[in-house]
Amino acid sequence: MRFLTIALFLAAMTAGAQDAPKQGGGRGGPPKNLKVLKAEDERPVMGAMMGAIGQRCNFCHMPGDNASDENPKKLVARKMMEMVNDINAKSPDGKVHVSCYTCHRGKATPDMVPPPVAPPAQ
Ligand code: HEC
Ligand code: HEC
Repeated sequence: MRFLTIALFLAAMTAGAQDAPKQGGGRGGPPKNLKVLKAEDERPVMGAMMGAIGQRCNFCHMPGDNASDENPKKLVARKMMEMVNDINAKSPDGKVHVSCYTCHRGKATPDMVPPPVAPPAQ
């Protein structure tokens, strides 16, 4: 589980984000309410998720309380993390191929249908 989580998000991260400090918690001290991530993965993963779904921190978090689970979007995001880990665990070649970005492409809600195909030019 741990390897998958890290590989998943490192793959989706920018070069800059990879230089983030390896301890969790940020300004608020060590994380208190992680159920999926390891403390050292918390920072880089938060950054990667913002880019993947195109939203800021408080889309998922209660302002000023990142440990709170009151924001329902945070609970959806945690389920999504577990889903992504499950998908990658079943990969035929055992490698990580699916990230948040695979579906979300920078949007909060992924598209269910492709955009209409433009009619051929006459
Ligand atoms: C897509 C939703 C989402 C976004 C956007 C997001 N987070 Fe999170 N965050 C989560 C989830 C889910 C957890 C809990 C992960 C777990 O249970 O392992 C979490 C956990 C945390 C924690 C640990 C809190 C604790 O004490 O347990 C911190 C700190 C945090 N986020 C900060 C941020 C910051 C700062 C940003 C913006 C840069 C951000 N998050 C963006 C969903 C999000
Ligand atoms: C297999 C495709 C897929 C992957 C991978 C995926 N998502 Fe989602 N996600 C969806 C779909 C479809 C929805 C809309 C349906 C829903 O809200 O449950 C959604 C909805 C969400 C929402 C709620 C958006 C809203 O406006 O209510 C959040 C937050 C979210 N995803 C975060 C994540 C994060 C974070 C990851 C990576 C850990 C992730 N998703 C990976 C398909 C995916």
